Amino acid sequence: MFEIHVFDTYDQVSEKAFEVMKEVVVSNPRAVLGLATGSSPVGLYKKLVDDFKVNRTSYKTITTYNLDEYVGIPQEHEQSYYTFMFQNFFAHVDIPHENIHMPVGISNDLKAYADAYELELQKHPQDIQLLGIGSNGHIGFNEPGTSFDMGTHIVDLKEQTRIDNARFFASLDDVPTQAMTMGIQDILRAKKILLIATGEKKAKAIAGMIEGPISEAVPCSILQKHPHVVVVLDKEAAKEL
Ligand code: GLP
Repeated sequence: MFEIHVFDTYDQVSEKAFEVMKEVVVSNPRAVLGLATGSSPVGLYKKLVDDFKVNRTSYKTITTYNLDEYVGIPQEHEQSYYTFMFQNFFAHVDIPHENIHMPVGISNDLKAYADAYELELQKHPQDIQLLGIGSNGHIGFNEPGTSFDMGTHIVDLKEQTRIDNARFFASLDDVPTQAMTMGIQDILRAKKILLIATGEKKAKAIAGMIEGPISEAVPCSILQKHPHVVVVLDKEAAKEL
C-alpha cells in the first residue's frame, strides 16, 4: 500500500522524509534502520544531523543496515557508500560504530560476506527501510531482471546504472561493474518503507512502481505488495502518475 506525498521543492521532500524517519527513531530508541545512499537522501541526512545537533535525538541504541556497496573499491575510496554514509550521517551523530552494518566491496570471500549479511538481516528486520530509485526502476542495486526471491547478493550493474552514476566518478570506466546489494526479500521484510525520488528522470520508474504491472523487469513494482510504503516525491518525479 502506497502513501504518496508530492511537494514542490527538494527541501519539502527532505522535510517530510525527515519527519517519517525521526518518528521511527523517537518512538523506538532500539529501532533497526535500513539506510540508503545516492543524491536523493542527502537532504534527509542533513536534517537528521541538524536535529541531532539541536535536539540531541540519540542514535546510541539504534542499529543500521545499509542497502548496498560497490564491488572492487575499498571503504576509504571517496565514492564508496561507506564513505558516503560517514560523510553524510554516521560521523555526525552518536551511533556506536559496532551498530553500523554495511555490505562490503572488497573481501577475500564476497559471497560468504553476503550470506552472513543476509542472516543478520533475517535476525534483525528493519523497522524502516529508506530507498531511492534508479531511473530503470532498480531499488538498492536490484537491477531489472533480478528475481524477487533474492536475499543479499552480488549483482552485475546495468550500463544505464553505470551511466547514471558516472557523474560521481572521473570517467565511465571508473564506475564499478558490480555491487553487493540487499535483495528484494530483504527490502520487503522492513515494517515500513520510505522511498524518496525527485526529478523528471525518475518519473517513468515511479509510474511503473505505482501503476504498472508487478514484474521483475521493473524491480520497484514489487513494492505494490508491501503493506506500507511512504513515497515522497517532487512534482517532476510524480509527473507520469
Ligand atoms: C544507486 C543506488 C540506489 C539509489 C540510486 C539512485 O544506483 N544503488 O540505492 O537509489 O542510485 O540514486 P540517486 O538518488 O543519486 O538518483
